[in-house]
Amino acid sequence: MQTLTVIGPGRLGSTLARLARQSGEFEVVDVMARRVEPLRLACDFIGAGRPVSEMRQLAPVDLYLLAVPDAAVAFCARALAAAGVVPAGSVVFHASGVGEASLLQPLAERGAHVASLHPAFSFADPARAVAGFAGTLCALEGDEAACLRLEPFVLALGGRPFRLAAGGKAAYHAALSVASNYLVALTAMAQGLTRQAGVPAELAAPLLGGLMRQTLDNALELGPRAALTGPILRGDVGTVERHLSVLADVELASAYRALGRQTVALAGERLPDEARRQLMALLY
Ligand SMILES: NC(=O)c1ccc[n+]([C@@H]2O[C@H](COP(=O)([O-])OP(=O)(O)OC[C@H]3O[C@@H](n4cnc5c(N)ncnc54)[C@H](OP(=O)(O)O)[C@@H]3O)[C@@H](O)[C@H]2O)c1
Repeated sequence: MQTLTVIGPGRLGSTLARLARQSGEFEVVDVMARRVEPLRLACDFIGAGRPVSEMRQLAPVDLYLLAVPDAAVAFCARALAAAGVVPAGSVVFHASGVGEASLLQPLAERGAHVASLHPAFSFADPARAVAGFAGTLCALEGDEAACLRLEPFVLALGGRPFRLAAGGKAAYHAALSVASNYLVALTAMAQGLTRQAGVPAELAAPLLGGLMRQTLDNALELGPRAALTGPILRGDVGTVERHLSVLADVELASAYRALGRQTVALAGERLPDEARRQLMALLY
């Protein structure tokens, strides 16, 4: 059985540690945090692990998960390396979506294999996360030996590992942010416009939701190019002009224009040259 230590048993750390224990393939050895009471609760939740408050107390293990907030990863990596407790050949990984394995360079210099392992999952509540984690795609990036040893770890948790090339984390995380956070921002923009139009508040969600779900399904199943419909694809310059005439908020108009230019690009050669020229003039 492989051994695992978790530094930072917060939402992600305690979920992954509990899934690892439940798999029967990993023994959770130490669990480290700074605050005593949350640490005790985390060990109870994981169902294993010795509560530890200082890095120099950590026992040697096969895998170290640094599940601290992104801003603390580099600092904790330096502290862990300085503590001199990580044996050469062990694997140290963090879970930041945007940070690379290189954040763990001080540990690599001491002979550890380093990686980042990012589950594309929202760990709002550990109990719910444990129940819903199965099938989650997990991006692995780092040195080859670390990735090879983390693939079976991800599979044991019920996740689906895939590799990212070095240098890809920022674009990978930007993709997830655009898909998730910007979708929420777009929903808010559209809801604001339904209010401006005088649509009854209780109808805004069903009105937009039906269209948004159908469009998202089309975009994911057919691809964005085939899923595109609407005034820009039709080259309907007058409609776009009328939309812009009611966007009083400068930021909203600017977002509409930026997304409109992306839509013109997606329409590509299906848009006649003259319509494209007129649309781009409006959208700049
Ligand atoms: N939550 C998600 O949905 C999610 C999804 C994907 C990836 N991630 C990634 O997972 C990592 C952890 O996120 P999280 O949401 O689980 O954070 P979190 O719930 O805030 O937990 C952070 C943990 O780190 C500990 N900690 C903070 N600073 C520390 C330090 N200097 N030394 C030792 N322990 C420290 C905290 O306990 P003490 O304060 O008591 O030390 C706590 O146990 C981040 O890299 C995040 O980007 C999170």
